[in-house]
Amino acid sequence: MQRFEGKVAVVTGGGRGIGGAIAKAFAAEGAKVAVVSRSESSCGKTAEEINAEYPGAAKAYAVDVADHAAVQELGKTIVADFGTVNILVNNAGVTRDGLLMRMKEEDWMTVLDTNLKGAFNTVKSFMRVLMKAEDPRIINIASVIGLIGNAGQANYAASKAGLIGFTKSVARELAGRKVTCNALAPGFITTDMTDELPEKLREEVKGSIPLGEFGSVSDIAKVTLFLASPDARYITGQVVAVDGGMTM
Ligand SMILES: NC(=O)c1ccc[n+]([C@@H]2O[C@H](COP(=O)([O-])OP(=O)(O)OC[C@H]3O[C@@H](n4cnc5c(N)ncnc54)[C@H](OP(=O)(O)O)[C@@H]3O)[C@@H](O)[C@H]2O)c1
Repeated sequence: MQRFEGKVAVVTGGGRGIGGAIAKAFAAEGAKVAVVSRSESSCGKTAEEINAEYPGAAKAYAVDVADHAAVQELGKTIVADFGTVNILVNNAGVTRDGLLMRMKEEDWMTVLDTNLKGAFNTVKSFMRVLMKAEDPRIINIASVIGLIGNAGQANYAASKAGLIGFTKSVARELAGRKVTCNALAPGFITTDMTDELPEKLREEVKGSIPLGEFGSVSDIAKVTLFLASPDARYITGQVVAVDGGMTM
């Protein structure tokens, strides 16, 4: 019997990068996966790749997580398609970096609306079904930047610090129903998001990582799956840093 057989996982931002790896890892261990991302092409591609290996395991949903009404509809559609939801992974996230002097209101709002309000929207949409599901789990992908801050990322740091506070409150509110809620704080992971950084900055960052290298998407997927598994039943309201030692 596979670890996630009979389970349904919703992964936002599942179109690429960390979310794509998480969605594929769930399918490889027997779960059915609802892959959500902004664009049809990216969630469709992940779902197609999963279904090529595990026929019928995935479905794609192109929805903007910042759109409250659309996310409430999405919850109904996914429950109608899969029957239940056991695991919600809030991974969709964006950056709009810039020093505060130059940061526009729009850059602030886009990041807060996606990274923080997006998680509020999905938890509101799925909490009722999670409360009735077996081994219910919420995992929020935060960031070490939400713990230590970063010049040029005030919006992103605020969104991820907010997500950590949200995680702990949801953990307390839903503990009575055995829904656990934890945050995972990745350090620097090789994806499209970090590929955008200038080479010089990437080298500087590497120097600040005790383990001396960027992490991989599979490093994050493995810890996410552990937090989602029955083995993690007694862990809730925690922030797990997966960062090569950056924040020790
Ligand atoms: N990479 C890192 O070093 C790192 C470090 C710490 C934390 N994180 C966090 O980990 C998560 C994933 O990062 P990543 O590096 O894998 O990012 P990525 O490669 O840029 O992928 C982001 C994913 O999120 C989706 N997305 C963005 N805005 C969305 C919205 N409004 N509604 C629905 N989906 C949306 C994108 O959809 P499309 O594909 O359709 O565009 C994409 O699938 C983010 O929350 C990020 O903040 C990353």
